[in-house]
Amino acid sequence: MSIQSENTFQAIISHAKEYGFVFPSSEIYDGLSAVYDYGPYGSELKKNIRDYWWKSMTQMHENIVGIDAAIFMHPTIWKASGHVDNFSDPMIDNKDSNKRYRVDHLIEAKADQLTAAGKSEEAATLIATMEALLAAEDFGGLKKLIEDHKIVCSVSGTGNWTDVRQFNLMFSTEFGAVSDNEEDNKVYLRPETAQGIFVNFLNVQKTARMKIPFGIAQTGKAFRNEIVARQFIFRMREFEQMEMQFFVRPGTEGTWYQYWKEERLKWHLSLGLPATKYRYHDHVKLAHYAKEACDIEYEFPFGFKEVEGIHSRSDFDLTQHQQYSKKKQQYFDNDIDESTGKPYGNYVPYVVETSIGLDRMFLLLLSNAYEEEVLTKEDGTTDTRVVLHLPAKLAPVKLAVLPLTKKDGLPELAQQLMRECKPYFHCFYEEKDAIGKRYRRQDAIGTPFCVTIDHQTKEDGTVTIRYRDSMLQERVAMSALKDLVMKEIF
Ligand code: GAP
Repeated sequence: MSIQSENTFQAIISHAKEYGFVFPSSEIYDGLSAVYDYGPYGSELKKNIRDYWWKSMTQMHENIVGIDAAIFMHPTIWKASGHVDNFSDPMIDNKDSNKRYRVDHLIEAKADQLTAAGKSEEAATLIATMEALLAAEDFGGLKKLIEDHKIVCSVSGTGNWTDVRQFNLMFSTEFGAVSDNEEDNKVYLRPETAQGIFVNFLNVQKTARMKIPFGIAQTGKAFRNEIVARQFIFRMREFEQMEMQFFVRPGTEGTWYQYWKEERLKWHLSLGLPATKYRYHDHVKLAHYAKEACDIEYEFPFGFKEVEGIHSRSDFDLTQHQQYSKKKQQYFDNDIDESTGKPYGNYVPYVVETSIGLDRMFLLLLSNAYEEEVLTKEDGTTDTRVVLHLPAKLAPVKLAVLPLTKKDGLPELAQQLMRECKPYFHCFYEEKDAIGKRYRRQDAIGTPFCVTIDHQTKEDGTVTIRYRDSMLQERVAMSALKDLVMKEIF
């Protein structure tokens, strides 16, 4: 990342904290690595993104319905899905102390030591090399890196290491009364929401009387003990996914995969996000379940990175669940197959999945929205305003209602406008400080419209509306305001 991009990214992180979007989790206890809390404006923005996704998936597609499955699921589900055996990252043991380390933690600790000793460049090279080796799954190379840097175990003090082996990314906990055999009680915190959809496939199909092709959508928390947990909310250990599994007739999955690939990019662009910042990245190395897969990537300040995955998962998951649960996961298709003149009959459907990280979408929006805009004043001097150009429909606050003064009946008129508008969209009321200062605070949280109630309002019922992006101001009838805002945010 260039120094300028690094500075922009750091400014976004600081801004997110200062204006109540994102706080480090457990901050008064020095935080918890890769876990974050959303503040007043952050939780509102996150909810708006979730709602926009949910509406576009369910309400706008008559053949997609939603569910809300539990986070805890039967442990065999993760065996069937392949996550117990395949969802892993590298680790290493010290032969003298028998202490086990995650390879990235060990190397990061060494990098911290180098930084503390004033060798920041060497530390950065070490981290970059580690990340390249992790991406290439070069376990021999990772062990050599540990040995070359003479990294030792903090307990034994020796560099007597085993080979690097895989480490499962799933968090586990105990369920119910503890028995002697810990494995009996072990449950996992779901690493993807998708499995809650797969195991409910028949419940949903029957109760909602769905006909193939149809989809099931879900939003919810997922947990991964991530190996490289950096870059703010880009890679978290507790995060939220918005997933949709689309169940199709075998043989049609290629067409549906293309359809959803295009449809999902259109969803991003429907928010007014720039097409030039997006690209597809087709997977070469496929996940254990995937037949075909691609990422929708966005150009974050730290480069093009995945924000959403489209996966053609074949009948892998349903077939696995059929095998492990010994319950048929089949659909009876009574449409006529033209080649045989008979119904398609029973089959296990194929699945095309769309999976987007809510937190990552949040970061994308913040990255795209953040601007330190230099303004030239009338006297030729300059000033900087920090503004979030968030899509109006997603902004945490849609309308700020600002009486020019605290007297002369202006607050009463402003409160009247608040009462008219707040049942329809999120409004914010403020009468303290100079109007310019109040505008700037709203710019900083991305409020698309500010309205000022002044003495003229008392005379002719008009107010000044000020647009966030252009900063243009115009007088409109106070009675027209609600519809004006509604038109922009719908
Ligand atoms: N069900 C398929 C699945 O989970 P994935 O590519 O592993 O696929 C889908 O994850 C999306 O979830 C990613 O594109 C990303 O947006 C988000 N995601 C994955 N791991 C994440 C993490 N540790 N922190 C934040 N978001 C994450």
